[in-house]
Amino acid sequence: EWAERGAAKIVREVTNPETGQTTKHVIKKGIKDFRFGDVLGDGSYSTVMLARSNDSGKKYAVKVLNKEYLIRQKKVKYVNIEKNTLQRLNNSRGVIKLYFTFQDEASLYFLLEYAPNGDFLSVMKKFGSLSEECACYYSAQILDAIDFIHKMGVIHRDIKPENILLDKDMKIKLTDFGTAKLLDKSEKSGKYDLLERSKSFVGTAEYVSPELLNDNYVDYKCDIWAFGCILFQMISGKPPFKATNEYLTFQKVMKVQYAFTAGFPLIIRDLVKQILVKVPDLRPDESQIKKHIFFKDVNFEDGSVWDKNPPEIA
Ligand code: ADE
Repeated sequence: EWAERGAAKIVREVTNPETGQTTKHVIKKGIKDFRFGDVLGDGSYSTVMLARSNDSGKKYAVKVLNKEYLIRQKKVKYVNIEKNTLQRLNNSRGVIKLYFTFQDEASLYFLLEYAPNGDFLSVMKKFGSLSEECACYYSAQILDAIDFIHKMGVIHRDIKPENILLDKDMKIKLTDFGTAKLLDKSEKSGKYDLLERSKSFVGTAEYVSPELLNDNYVDYKCDIWAFGCILFQMISGKPPFKATNEYLTFQKVMKVQYAFTAGFPLIIRDLVKQILVKVPDLRPDESQIKKHIFFKDVNFEDGSVWDKNPPEIA
């Protein structure tokens, strides 16, 4: 079933000049159509490699998942979630694009857009912390991308710097939707019900929201919490809730126990304080955050948040 729905199809119409008859030839892309290169990253149950199309030379990032392992570890569900989510979100500026999926006997393959500037964690590590201008540039895009996926009925649930990639123009791309929650449209309003409270899953310790630890539910505000943690990290160089082990990190998250580093800019301090509140209903949503004075020079309406040149990183 996976192959049928997922296989990349290229349809070529060929007209016979003698009969004038047109026939459609379906050519399925497969693993033989790509050459594999360096390993770009390793997940818990996948490996991402650079791949080049034999036809066009175009670069892709191919996510390779071992079928036997997926079945043994009961992860098949997450692979399907990732694929369905990426298909729902395709063609959005802040989300990595999924081009093709296919499989062979051993593995499943996701041919993803290649983001040549790596992930946002590496950028932050390299520079220690970012200037206010940089923090504004990157956080505005991250916020707009989160807003977009929420409007499309997707809660990511594991937003963190490793899952934010940078394309050739240093524009952010959210990735890794294996733990996402895909919501159904409400019958009444025709809109996605982002307040659906679903019991489930813990993301990554440093970015997990208190409601998930306390009550084991998530709504879209968990992505807003993670956004607040990342904004803090851009300035401080480390996430707000970090301890020597996961247990102690969870304790800090539940108590919302964090401290601003010396010299932390007051405007960003105000925004982070508003976001990192324990009760999700009291946490601002995207439209409220976009109105904060920190984003006064960003126009979220006309899309220019995605058209600006990246500031020099520092
Ligand atoms: N690492 C994981 N996914 C990637 C992608 N799509 N592009 C570049 N590096 C990656």
